[in-house]
This record gives sequence, structure tokens and C-alpha cells, in this order.
Amino acid sequence: MSNGSVFADIAGKYDVINSVLSFGQEQKWRRRVVAELPNGRLLDLGAGTGAANDVFGDRRVVALDPSPEMLSTNGASRRLVGVGERLPFEDNAFDAVFSAYVFRNLDSVDITLTEVERVLRPGGRLGIVGLGRPRNPALAAVHRAGSAVVLPLVGVTVGAREEYTYLHRSLDKLPPPEELYANRPLRHVDLWRMGPLGFVYGAVLEKV
Ligand SMILES: C[S@@+](CC[C@H](N)C(=O)[O-])C[C@H]1O[C@@H](n2cnc3c(N)ncnc32)[C@H](O)[C@@H]1O
Repeated sequence: MSNGSVFADIAGKYDVINSVLSFGQEQKWRRRVVAELPNGRLLDLGAGTGAANDVFGDRRVVALDPSPEMLSTNGASRRLVGVGERLPFEDNAFDAVFSAYVFRNLDSVDITLTEVERVLRPGGRLGIVGLGRPRNPALAAVHRAGSAVVLPLVGVTVGAREEYTYLHRSLDKLPPPEELYANRPLRHVDLWRMGPLGFVYGAVLEKV
């Protein structure tokens, strides 16, 4: 199952399920990252249904996502179908790039970070909300065992077993954020853990 078909298939149920799985905390996690981003023109990378639109304030938002089904309910005034690995924008076009719950779905984090660096103006910031595993290896094992049971069960309940099995597997796809965002062309500003057992993270990087 490809990333594209996962999100096309669950687009109609995405917001409700996301809210249930995060115990209603997912908007708080987005808000905390957005608070560290400059005002002005903002790219919402992997914007999906536009769940973050309420926390952007009066920023001028461009929503980009490869799934037309996810974008179809996004209320942003500017919406584009596209991927992070090939951003359809000029150099220095944005004051900020925001991306929530997207990085583990990318084909290439390296290429996407290069593209984000290109489209940010100097001093512009990238803010990421991501999911992974707790930092402590014992807690990570507990979390892995739990998500192996809980996520497919949620999937069966909502008629999307394969999609939620994909979500469980995707949590192990990337290295921990402390390694993933170290030594990048974008300068490290902040990185913190949130959520139960710290399996959610916020990261802020800046173009020098
Ligand atoms: C879990 S959803 C998150 C949506 C939204 N950011 C939110 O906070 O609710 C992941 C989104 O990433 C998108 N996505 C998958 N691969 C992508 C890529 N290569 N570039 C940009 N977005 C991608 C999916 O289509 C989907 O809408």
C-alpha cells in the first residue's frame, strides 16, 4: 500500500480518528510549534484536510499535499497538489514552513529538507510536529507492542485495517528526531518531546 492510497482512503475519517488517537491533544502539539514560527507567508507541507488552519493566525497560508482527497476539505485559500521532495515554488518564497505528522510518510527526508531550505528566506523557519517512538528503549518497546495491537484494532473498527497497520509500521521508519535533524543545512533551534511517553516531538530549524 502506497502513502498516497493510504491518505486517499481515509481522508473522510482522518480528522476524527486523529483526534481520538491523540486523546484530543494533536491541535495543542501543532500550536506549540507554530508559536515558534515567524508571521508572513507560510507553507503547510502535507497540509491534508487543513486541521492546522485554525492555529496559523493571520499568516498567508499555502497548503500543499499529494492527495487531492485530503486537500478537498482544506479551507486554505491557496491549495496545491504536490510533494515535499519537489516544491513548486521559487527560492526564498516563504517566511515559514510548517509540517505536522508528515515526515515519516515522505519518500525522502533529505531531499525534502533541501527543498524546504531553498524555498525559505534567510532567517525563515521550519516547524515540524512528528510521531515516532519514546526515546527510552524500554518505553519504546512497550509503545511498539501497544501500537501493534491498538492501531490495527482501531483500523478494523473504522473499516481501514491496512491503513492503521501502515501507521503502526511507519512509527519505526525514521531515526529518532535528535539524530534525524542533527547536522542539516538548516540550523537547529529547538527540539522537544511531547505526548504520552514522549512519542510526539516538536522541532524548529532555521535557514541561516
Ligand atoms: C497524517 S497526515 C497529516 C495531515 C496534516 N498535516 C495534519 O496535521 O493533520 C499526512 C499527510 O502527508 C501527506 N504526504 C504524504 N507523502 C507526502 C509527501 N511526499 N510530501 C508532502 N506530503 C505528503 C499525506 O497525503 C497526508 O495528507
